[in-house]
Amino acid sequence: MPKPRILVIDDEAAIRDSLKMTLEYEGYEFLGAATGQEGLALAERETPDLVLLDVKMPGMDGLEVLDRLRSLNESLPVVVISGHGTIATAVDATKKGAFDFIEKPFASDRVLVSLRNALDQRRLRDENRSLKRAVEVRHQMVGESTALKQVTAAIGRAAPTNATVLIQGESGVGKELVARTIHKNSLRSRERFVQVNCAAIPEELIESELFGHEKGSFTGATEKQVGKFEQADRGTIFLDEVADMSAKTQAKVLRVLQEGEVERLGSARTIKVDVRVIAATNKNLEEEIEKGTFREDLYFRLAVIPILVPPLRERPEDIPPLVRHFMDYFSRENNVRPKRIAPSVMEALQRHRWKGNIRELRNTVERLIIMTGGDTIDLADLPLLRSPSSASSPKPGDGDSTRPGTLREFKDSSERAFLVSKLRETGWNISRTAEIIDTPRSNLYKKLEQYQISQETDG
Ligand SMILES: Nc1ncnc2c1ncn2[C@@H]1O[C@H](COP(=O)(O)OP(=O)(O)OP(=O)(O)O)[C@@H](O)[C@H]1O
Ligand SMILES: [Mg+2]
Repeated sequence: MPKPRILVIDDEAAIRDSLKMTLEYEGYEFLGAATGQEGLALAERETPDLVLLDVKMPGMDGLEVLDRLRSLNESLPVVVISGHGTIATAVDATKKGAFDFIEKPFASDRVLVSLRNALDQRRLRDENRSLKRAVEVRHQMVGESTALKQVTAAIGRAAPTNATVLIQGESGVGKELVARTIHKNSLRSRERFVQVNCAAIPEELIESELFGHEKGSFTGATEKQVGKFEQADRGTIFLDEVADMSAKTQAKVLRVLQEGEVERLGSARTIKVDVRVIAATNKNLEEEIEKGTFREDLYFRLAVIPILVPPLRERPEDIPPLVRHFMDYFSRENNVRPKRIAPSVMEALQRHRWKGNIRELRNTVERLIIMTGGDTIDLADLPLLRSPSSASSPKPGDGDSTRPGTLREFKDSSERAFLVSKLRETGWNISRTAEIIDTPRSNLYKKLEQYQISQETDG
């Protein structure tokens, strides 16, 4: 970390000198100015991290300097030093946005504490800002294809309304991202976005999850539970994998949509809820209706605004901007320099089928960043994408042909099978898998490389 740079503006040479000594001794970089004008010029040119400012100076007085510093850089912390008995001035300075004031004569400890506090506060604020930016970047929809523009236009039309939205598309195309974007751009954006993964909740729990239950309403209901619909009141509920709901649950959800009210299990009381519903599925609901596993009336209720997110292979123009976006994102996250991508690699990425769509592309880019040593990613770094036929070459754990003979082979094949099953469980979400099996993502990528595991070859 570079040394924090402190600008001291004070007309008294003795004070500047003593502060210079103290600050440099404590590991700060010192800049000194004897007048307001000089200080302002230095502040502009040298971008200090903090200013120590004397109030009473000949020429431009401290309060005016403070004003000008503020308009120069709003977030620059200023600590004001005032002569004895000038409390009123100090109060003025605080009103004008000074971080702290110190009365002369001062002990150097007092100055150091104030400095440290101001710098800490600034660092926290900067961190907050960059976290916020990171969240925004993470939830940004990237792409230039006509297909994606149509999706974005549909989001724009849907967002300000209260209409139910049904998002359909293959696994990993960005359905959840679409749902979040609708919520973020809606009038409900300040309220909650409550996500329910209907496929992940066991059948016997889903109703109490959605609608809540009263204490003692069934064995095991030791506490009252507020359902997701109630939690989402005034906000948005996102019913993910909606095709996986049982017939009974479908009937109850339909009722909520029709009546706008829920009943907790074990309670006869109905509770009004004002909830915007967004649903998503990677199944073809029309087919599910044919098969009789999804209610047609519920389908019509949900699909007031239908949005179909096309698979990545149908919009290869989106691949280069997505690759650059993920490259930026992951190199920042992993604290490494972004790598150059050879044109042949970009072509290969655009030709690939991306069965796992954007999630697979995202995982691939992260893996390339972690696994590639040099500054450029070449075709040689893409073993899994180069030859689709590599899927048919024998790999450890691939069934009878490679039946393990040695202990080592057995260990490998078990490890491979374990990883594949965990990856399937999380829908090939690398971060979540790494978390569940408690290993760093970089190690998981090494294993995927070692065993030649990819979503594309799984199936
Ligand atoms: N257009 C896009 N720009 C940037 N990132 C995207 C885009 N589309 C999807 N992603 C990212 O790809 C990943 C998968 O997206 P998401 O989880 O929304 O897909 P999904 O369709 O809900 O998948 P599943 O069916 O498996 O639940 C996420 O990390 C998401 O942020
Ligand atoms: Mg999803």
